[in-house]
Amino acid sequence: MKVFSQKVLKWFDQQGRKNLPWQHNITPYRVWVSEIMLQQTQVKTVIPYYERFMQSFPTVQTLANAEQDEVLKHWSGLGYYARARNMHKSAKQVCDDYAGVFPETLDEIVALAGIGRSTGAAILSISHGQKQAILDGNVKRVLARVFAIEGWPGKSAVLKKLWEVADSLVPSTRNADYTQAMMDLGATVCTRSKPACVTCPLQADCLAHQQGNQTDYPGKKPKKTLPEKHTVMLLLQNKAGEVFMQKRPPVGIWGGLWCFPQFETEAFADEYLIENYQYDTASTNALPVLSHTFSHFRLHIQPLIIKIETPLMVGVMEAKDSLWYNSQTEFKGGLAAPVQLLLNTLKSNTKDNTHGTNG
Ligand code: ADE
Ligand code: SF4
Repeated sequence: MKVFSQKVLKWFDQQGRKNLPWQHNITPYRVWVSEIMLQQTQVKTVIPYYERFMQSFPTVQTLANAEQDEVLKHWSGLGYYARARNMHKSAKQVCDDYAGVFPETLDEIVALAGIGRSTGAAILSISHGQKQAILDGNVKRVLARVFAIEGWPGKSAVLKKLWEVADSLVPSTRNADYTQAMMDLGATVCTRSKPACVTCPLQADCLAHQQGNQTDYPGKKPKKTLPEKHTVMLLLQNKAGEVFMQKRPPVGIWGGLWCFPQFETEAFADEYLIENYQYDTASTNALPVLSHTFSHFRLHIQPLIIKIETPLMVGVMEAKDSLWYNSQTEFKGGLAAPVQLLLNTLKSNTKDNTHGTNG
């Protein structure tokens, strides 16, 4: 379908984004980092993260040699931290197995941690101009609408159909521009809830547009309500105003990030306080509940600020995985979004108090 790609490319020449940070000094490494960041995050959020990341880790070697804490710190707030852990792991693989040169076949690339078929194809297409079809969320939406492909793309039969269509449309020339164009078209014109069909280069071909039911595509995932979980976070503050933080185990939700001690119930939190501090607490202050939605559950966090008289924990805990942190200073590790939020709250509380005592 040469006409299809020609329409898309013509639109790209007129309307596509050509000035994003990862569109300059194109290398497989730079494209890879951008594609991973963009997987679950919007362009405008990604840009500052991308620039900081590239400043600190300009090459695959610098990333491979970095400490995990340092890498996760650059990911703080972006979410889906497995992306960062996998990227770090893959950087080491590229250095160990490919002498630091990013592999150039799709099979080798998808064997790296955290890179699926579409992301691998996007890297090869954008950085080498290889003839590769991509199928990220944006492209799935465009193709499902143009060809009126029914069903939820999470089902393998639907996904197979979409890949066949995507494969049949890729042009032999200007593949990099075509890849970028399809992503841009999905992100800026054929949007999820309000497709701008009047400005769309595919309008005349689009079956969903003809039917007037654009937003029925792609088919929705059968609804399951997310399970609700509850947790108590203890923001232990010592007399110096420092707050106690622990590094989470390397796997699972927030793996490798720094958090506050966390408990399923206040009773368990109480037990911990009695055991470690003999209830030697000056005051307890409950902050409002914070709710955080993950892909597969919702977490309701009850933060409790506890002022500690004597920080008995020091020396008891393994120093490597816990510390007393001065919230006025920069944190040297990765922080989950709600933890960052709570640290900010503590920081402004501490500031207010300082103002108060100074008159
Ligand atoms: N989403 C995923 N990859 C992208 C890219 N290269 N440009 C814009 N949005 C994207
Ligand atoms: Fe999407 Fe509308 Fe274009 Fe069809 S015509 S691809 S629904 S923007």
